[in-house]
Amino acid sequence: MNACLRAVVRAGVYHGIEVYGIMRGYSGMIKGEFVRMDSASVSNTVQRGGTILKSARSQKFMTKEGRQQAFDQLVNHGIEGLVAIGGNGTFTGATIFEKEFGIPTVGAPGTIDNDLYGTDYTIGYDTAVNTALEAIDKIRDTADSHDRCFFVEVMGRDSGYIAIPCAIGGGAEIVMVPETAMSVDAVIETLQSSYARHKTSFIVIVAEGEEEGNVHHVARRVKEAIPQLDTRVTIVGHIQRGGSPTAADRLLASQLGIAAVEGLLNGMKNVMAGIVDRKLTYTPFDDTINKRKVINQSFMRMVEILSV
Ligand code: F6P
Repeated sequence: MNACLRAVVRAGVYHGIEVYGIMRGYSGMIKGEFVRMDSASVSNTVQRGGTILKSARSQKFMTKEGRQQAFDQLVNHGIEGLVAIGGNGTFTGATIFEKEFGIPTVGAPGTIDNDLYGTDYTIGYDTAVNTALEAIDKIRDTADSHDRCFFVEVMGRDSGYIAIPCAIGGGAEIVMVPETAMSVDAVIETLQSSYARHKTSFIVIVAEGEEEGNVHHVARRVKEAIPQLDTRVTIVGHIQRGGSPTAADRLLASQLGIAAVEGLLNGMKNVMAGIVDRKLTYTPFDDTINKRKVINQSFMRMVEILSV
């Protein structure tokens, strides 16, 4: 997010616009927590994880009264357009706000989950995958040395976008994701047949939002069915949301930050800047909110083939 914010500020300065940062998103907009930003405000931030503007969820912005207060604050500061870095919730708020008060917003996709329609990759996703993969490589050392079966939960509230590359790149036997209903029985069957082929260590990647139940439930069921397996559970957790961004993320964030500002300058509103098939694209917020990005099923097959 910092790399994107830096690009927004610098693109604004480049085009001669006065730029303000709003602390804690909509929550800070309502309270008037605005910070005048110039080029130096974002020095030494491109390599930093998180966001110097901080982030918050705002219940109040979901009310008309809250949005009215936010609008009053924007008017007081002479703000004519917004760049919002976020996901579905952020863009839903921006759409309603524009309909009520006419303040245009252009968005940039900021979520590690990569589950936003309108961009092939979201800002933070590549870093999160690489962080999770590094953790899985380390877990594999114990799995291999001690002949164990590890169930590793990675993030992805509603999606398997993080889980799938982790499974392919991390050499997992199985990946469980919310988009594809894989029963625990199928997991048991696959592990049983791998065990019968004298495999001695196993990695099963479970996306956080997996519908068959959480990682502990899956591990418990497998242990009951195959008691000879020495099972362990690891939850990679919030380390996936932090750390210095990868080169790919810095590039994407910079490109989309500039695109968001230039979109606003070109009169756009209620659209998200994204990259689709390597091309810069602006997708209506309505589509990013209502359309579902589809998981490439051939990746699931790759996990099967590669773990044979
Ligand atoms: O939406 C991104 C995400 O990282 C999800 O993958 C995860 O479920 C969630 O955020 C965690 O959010 P919180 O920090 O509020 O628990």
